[in-house]
Amino acid sequence: MQKMSPMHVIGVAFWCAIVIHVGYAQLNPWFYRETCPYLYTIVLRVIFDASLTDPRIGASLIRLHFHDCFVQGCDGSVLLNNTRRIVSEQQARPNINSIRGLDVVNNIKTAVEHACPATVSCADILAIAAEVASVLGGGPSWPIPLGRRDSLTANRALANRNLPAPTLTLNQLKGSFRVQGLNTKDLVTLSGAHTFGRAHCNTFIQRLYNFSNTGNPDPTLNINYLQTLRRLCPRNTTLNNLNNLDLTTPNQFDNRYYSNLQNHKGLLQTDQELFSTPNADTINIVNSFSNNQAFFFENFRVSMIKMGYIGVLTGNKGEIRKHCNFVNGDYSQLVGGASKGSKNGLS
Ligand code: HEM
Ligand SMILES: *[C@@H]1O[C@H](CO)[C@@H](O)[C@H](O)[C@H]1NC(C)=O
Ligand SMILES: *[C@@H]1O[C@H](CO)[C@@H](O)[C@H](O)[C@H]1NC(C)=O
Ligand SMILES: *[C@@H]1O[C@H](CO)[C@@H](O)[C@H](O)[C@H]1NC(C)=O
Repeated sequence: MQKMSPMHVIGVAFWCAIVIHVGYAQLNPWFYRETCPYLYTIVLRVIFDASLTDPRIGASLIRLHFHDCFVQGCDGSVLLNNTRRIVSEQQARPNINSIRGLDVVNNIKTAVEHACPATVSCADILAIAAEVASVLGGGPSWPIPLGRRDSLTANRALANRNLPAPTLTLNQLKGSFRVQGLNTKDLVTLSGAHTFGRAHCNTFIQRLYNFSNTGNPDPTLNINYLQTLRRLCPRNTTLNNLNNLDLTTPNQFDNRYYSNLQNHKGLLQTDQELFSTPNADTINIVNSFSNNQAFFFENFRVSMIKMGYIGVLTGNKGEIRKHCNFVNGDYSQLVGGASKGSKNGLS
């Protein structure tokens, strides 16, 4: 084989650097500095206003970003409604009767379009909203890499496949995150978002009465907490009440989620498994976050930024949607339905 000249080596290194850079996508926190300087303030204001009447909204918004990123990347696909061409992810099992905040996202988009038309993607709005949610809850802030573009497609089947169910084993959970390029530490860290928000009875009721068909409750569940949860979620009813994911500080972004796990008071099976799976490598991480909130926050920043890079569209891929619920030009659900451009603001 021919030896490469120094110029060759430099040239190859240069192109590798470009390829790696582009491969890792060109997002940066200053992406809209010239084109939409007040973007962050606008998003913050709309979410803050909403939080005055809905203290849960931050939790719902951070979950939307997660459910966006795990399905064909952080591309706003979760926001797309059913049309003739789109099979919405909103009706996938993990989302239906469960995701919230879509109206607030639309309010943000309206305010942003007013200030800087056709400039900011819905995928970026979700990424900013997730950070604002953390900050308003008392959690960490971070520089938000921006410059994502919005998808032209959604994928309900992939949403059903990729979004983890609350009954997965720890190994399955790890697999679900690994598929997204996220490791075990990211899993434990990002699960800490269950420091606020709510879950319906049907997401954990299998733990309360007949766990794995044993006829008994989940043995990793604290007995007093079990009694509380049984009152909130009685057997043989169609009630599907809401329960705090973090029983100690339900609306606050802090590290109490991890001390709950140490006390066997995790709500979802998938939460408690991080601490109660025998010999698991996640136990030490739970302990370290429970002992040191600053350490948890530092890791949360890193893992949220990492999650925000999953499968992003940049450059000339995708588009900047005018309305977050629709691919530009595809408003076909409106035909014969709601009168065009009236209450949907699509005129
Ligand atoms: C580790 C795997 C995960 C599983 C199995 C899981 C599962 C769930 C389930 C079942 C609910 C309750 C939904 C309902 O009853 O309506 C929920 C709520 C929530 N999840 Fe997760 N989740 C996971 C990871 C995450 C991640 C990575 C985040 C964000 C970074 C997150 C943020 C939230 C939040 C904030 C809520 C409350 C939402 C609200 O109150 O509207 N979750 N999750
Ligand atoms: C638990 O579930 C299994 C399988 O569905 C069933 O055979 C069993 O009777 C149940 N036990 C109780 C106590 O409900
Ligand atoms: C609730 O369901 C269980 C198991 O299916 C059954 O054994 C029990 O009698 C039911 N209780 C009531 C109050 O209907
Ligand atoms: C999109 O669908 C959601 C229900 O998933 C609905 O609440 C919302 O109004 C729809 N958006 C538009 C603009 O029709």
